[in-house]
Order: sequence, then C-alpha cells, then structure tokens
Amino acid sequence: MARAVKVTIRVWPTAAEVAAGAAELFASVVGAAVAARGAARVAVSGGTTPKAMFALLADRSKPYFARVPWQRLHLFWVDERCVPPTDAESNYRMTDEAMLSKVPLAAVQIHRMEGELEPEIAAARYEATLRTEFSLEGAETPAFDLVLLGMGEDGHTASLFPHTAALHEMGRIVVANHVAQKETWRVTLTVPAIEMGREVAFLIEGAAKAQTVQDVFCGAYDAEAKPAQLIRPKNGRLTLLLDAAAAAKLPQLAGADCAEPGSTRVATLELK
Ligand code: 6PG
Repeated sequence: MARAVKVTIRVWPTAAEVAAGAAELFASVVGAAVAARGAARVAVSGGTTPKAMFALLADRSKPYFARVPWQRLHLFWVDERCVPPTDAESNYRMTDEAMLSKVPLAAVQIHRMEGELEPEIAAARYEATLRTEFSLEGAETPAFDLVLLGMGEDGHTASLFPHTAALHEMGRIVVANHVAQKETWRVTLTVPAIEMGREVAFLIEGAAKAQTVQDVFCGAYDAEAKPAQLIRPKNGRLTLLLDAAAAAKLPQLAGADCAEPGSTRVATLELK
C-alpha cells in the first residue's frame, strides 16, 4: 500500500513567477537547514525548467542571493546525462552557466555526477560521495534538505523513465539507468533517495505538461507508465510549484482566480 501524501499545489500565473516562488523555497529551506543543522544539502534537477530559478538565485540584485548561506550549502544533482560536464546536454553545465559560475560555492561544495565515466562507475562513485557527505552507515539513505524535481511530458522525473529498470531499485541510492526510448544511459537517484528528502518539490511549467500533471496527480495509479507517481516522500508531504498553464487541468484549482500577477493559488490533494 503506497504511503498517503498531502500534496500542496502552488500556482502562479507565469513561469517567471514560478521561478521566483522556487527561488524563495530554495532560499528559505536552505536558510532553515543551516539554522537547524549547520549545513544544507540540496539535490537539483537538470533540463530547462530550473534555469530561471538558478538565475534568480545568482542575481545579486534580487533578494534571494543575500539570503542563501552559500558557504554552508552543498549542491547535488538528482540525475545526469552520460556526457562530459562540458557537453550541451550536461545538467551540470546548465547549472554552472545559470548559477554556479556566479555564486560563491567552493568546488568541494559542488557534487556533480561524473557523466563522462562509464554509467555504472559514475553511479557507484556518486553513491560513495553521498555516503561520505551524509556520513551514511549500512543501508542508510541520505536525507536531502530539499529535492527539486522536474517532470517530463511522459511522466518521468529525475531519470526515472517509464518502463525502465531504475523504477524498481529500492536497495541502492544511485544507479545507472538505460533509457531505451532515448537510446541512452543516465545516472539517477533512486526513489528511496528522493523520498527521504525533508522537502520534495516538483517544478513544472507549460501547457504541454498539463495533461500529464492531471494524469500523474489525479489519475489512476500506474507508476510504470507515470514514474512521477512513485515519489511519495516519507514525511507525507509533497509540493508542486506550477504555472497556470501546467495547472490548467487540475480540478482542485477550477475557479480559483490568480489573474493578478504575483498571486498564487493554493490547493491540496491527498495521494492515496
Ligand atoms: C533531466 C532532468 C529531468 C527533467 C525533466 C523535465 O536530466 O532532464 O533531471 O528529470 O527534470 O525532463 O525537463 P524540462 O525542465 O526540460 O521540461
């Protein structure tokens, strides 16, 4: 029986406002983690959606930069393409261009997945990195302070693609995953590593994903076909940060108005 999860859905009119909402979440979670535990460990996604959030965090004219205790932050990724860090496809490169090259994070605070290596070697080395950084013992799973996820139109998240082997991996925290539909390998956190996150949030934008958002969060449970449904955080909480376009088919939000810029609509749903 899957764990019941309360999903908080926050919707802004535009993608730019979602990016600001995500930057606000990032700054507040990192600040609270440092205040509580002296450090913050965040796992971010790649793709394109997080770019605007990264740019806001790195922008010294915006309120977020000064609020992030950069010297106490360690940054990780939820997945990586099996390419060198200089490749246009690299999630690390995207993050470096959008943020890392502009913020005071030392190299020892940046933990990239080594996409240039053989996939299984990269996965094993990343698992070793997580075991060291989180001082894991035995079968312990890392508890990131924040896991920021994206979602594809096919319902994948991280590099947990439909009908791929990694969906079923419950023993390891990082694996290499062959993605036949993309004829490629990926390195990805597994479901247990994501679900242990103290805060887990999906950042999803665009009309092209509206049907998938409805199918994943309101439709029948079919995690093989919609892997984002696998993510049921152990703490029973999940946040969706959406623009109005991606939220357009969510019945919970029907009628709620967020016409004025900067407003957010908030709804909740229960994943049974
Ligand atoms: C990746 C990401 C992946 C991403 C989704 C959404 O390696 O591509 O980690 O899980 O979050 O594919 O991508 P977009 O933000 O580009 O729509």
